Order: sequence, then structure tokens, then C-alpha cells
Amino acid sequence: MSRTVALVGLMGAGKSTVGRRLADKLGREFYDSDSEIEKAAGLSITDIFALHGEEDFRRGEQQVLKRLLEQPPHVLATGGGAYLNAETRELMRDNAVTIWLNADLETLWRRVQKRDTRPLLRRPDAKDVLTSLLAEREPIYSQADLVVPSKDGPHINTVNAIYKAL
Ligand code: S3P
Repeated sequence: MSRTVALVGLMGAGKSTVGRRLADKLGREFYDSDSEIEKAAGLSITDIFALHGEEDFRRGEQQVLKRLLEQPPHVLATGGGAYLNAETRELMRDNAVTIWLNADLETLWRRVQKRDTRPLLRRPDAKDVLTSLLAEREPIYSQADLVVPSKDGPHINTVNAIYKAL
């Protein structure tokens, strides 16, 4: 596989953990679009949303992804909303193999509760929000080149499933 491998999917799908381990296995560089946005802005994702709003965050996300997709083949974990932007999606399709890490609602919910770093879920009805996001986004994520289940259990199983599928 000589192209960049871009992981897409909802918050809690395991993109960052799986991506980092996959990059190790492939001997490739690993990038995480959320971390790159934070570095570029000098602010956490939470602070970017709070101080500048989601729209500005999305603009920054698009710019960062454009820059990352120009890098030599690597493994890229994208933020859960990145693939929803039509322009970014096209760019990813042209420059990477896209993989949807498909996890069910309960698995996603269990995992996102471990970290309080997602502004979209910092509210009392977070599980309903996650449920709606999953329903809205599933048809878009499913346009990825490959769909790999991200099951409950060790992420290494998902890493191996991707490795075999590539
Ligand atoms: C978002 C997902 C987050 C982060 C931001 C918005 C989304 O990334 O980009 O909070 O819209 O789904 P992760 O999917 O890495 O949590």
C-alpha cells in the first residue's frame, strides 16, 4: 500500500489509537488531524470551539487536512467531522485510501466517556447527540474505500484487520 491511509469515523471509533499502532506496523509516519489543529492554533480543541466556534474549527480542520494530505504516504487519523466536508472528502479520496472504523453506538458511548475533550458531547444529553450523529453520518462514512468493524476489545484486532485488508 503506497498511499496514505486515512481513518474516518465517529468519536470513539478508535482512529487515533488504531492509527498510531497501524503506522508503527507499516513503518510509516502518523498524524492526527486534531493534534495538528491544536498545534497550529496553540489551543486545545475545547478552547477553539469555546473561543472561535465550530465554524472556525471546521475551516482550520480543512486547511490542516489539505496540508497533511500533501505529505508523503503516512497514516492519518481524522477528526470525526472531517470527512463530512465534500471538498475534504474529495481530497481524501484523491490522495488516500479511506477506511471507516465502524463501531456500534454502545461501544462508541463507552469509549467517549473516558475522555472529556469533545465539545460536541459536553452536555447532559450527550448520548442522544452521539446517537443522532451516528445516524446522520453513517451514510457519509460508508462512502469510504474500506469499512472495518471497530469492535469492543483490544484495538490490536482492528489494526490487524486493516493490515490484512490493505
Ligand atoms: C468531532 C470529533 C473530534 C474533534 C471535534 C469534532 C466531530 O475528533 O475533531 O471535537 O465532529 O465528530 P475525534 O473524532 O478524534 O474525537
